[in-house]
Amino acid sequence: MRINVLTLFPNMFDGFLSESIIKRAIDSKKVEINIKNIRDYSKNKHKQVDDTPYGGGRGMVLMCEPIFEAVEDLKNKDTKVIMMTPQGKPYNQKKAMELSKCKDLIIICGHYEGFDERISSIVDEEISIGDYVLTGGEIPSMVVCDSVTRLLPGVIEDESKENESFSEDLLDYPTYTKPREYRGMKVPDVLLSGDHKKIDEWRKEEQIKKTKEKRPDLITEIKRKKYW
Ligand code: ADE
Repeated sequence: MRINVLTLFPNMFDGFLSESIIKRAIDSKKVEINIKNIRDYSKNKHKQVDDTPYGGGRGMVLMCEPIFEAVEDLKNKDTKVIMMTPQGKPYNQKKAMELSKCKDLIIICGHYEGFDERISSIVDEEISIGDYVLTGGEIPSMVVCDSVTRLLPGVIEDESKENESFSEDLLDYPTYTKPREYRGMKVPDVLLSGDHKKIDEWRKEEQIKKTKEKRPDLITEIKRKKYW
C-alpha cells in the first residue's frame, strides 16, 4: 500500500516514521509512506500556500492551487483522497479496516483556520479523529497511517488483531504477565490452568463485562441479542 501525506510541516513526521512497527513496515516494504510538502507544489514565486479569507475574518486559509497540483501529480486510478478535518466523519476501527484495503491513499492535512472550500471537490472523504480541534491535520494523519498500517498483512501477527479491542465491537480482554502475584493482586487462576477452552470462554466473558462497564455505548441491539 502507498500513502502520500500532504503537509505544511513534514518534519513532524520524522519520529513517527523512524520507530517501532511503522519503521519495520516501511523497511519491509509492506507500506510506502511519502511525506510531501504542500509548499513544493506552490506556483507562487513566494511559495505561498495560504491567504486571507474573502469576506474578511480571522486567520489564513489553505489555498486550492497547491493542493490541486499535488493531488493531480500523485493520483492514479486506485487513489482515494482523504482530508483530515474536525468537520469530517468520525474515525473508527471499521474505517481503518476499510482504508487498509485501499492500494493508494492521499491524506491531506488541513491547517490554519481552514481550507478553501473548493478543495472538497477533489476529496473523496473528510475524516475527523474526534470532537476536539488540533492545530492541524498532521497528528490526525499519523493516527490514520498508524491504524491502517498495523492492519496490513504481515505487519503484526494476525492473532493479535483477532481479539483486540473493537474487533467484534467489543473491548479487549484483560491480560497479565509475570509475576503471578504483585502487591496482593493475583493473576486469575484460569489463566494458569493450561485449559485453553476455559481460557477462551473466560476471555470472551471478560470482554463482554468490560465493554458493558466501560463503553456501554458500543453495545447495540444486535450484540445484546448475541451476548445476553
Ligand atoms: N484537524 C484539527 N483537528 C482535527 C481533528 N479532530 N480531526 C481531524 N483533523 C483535524
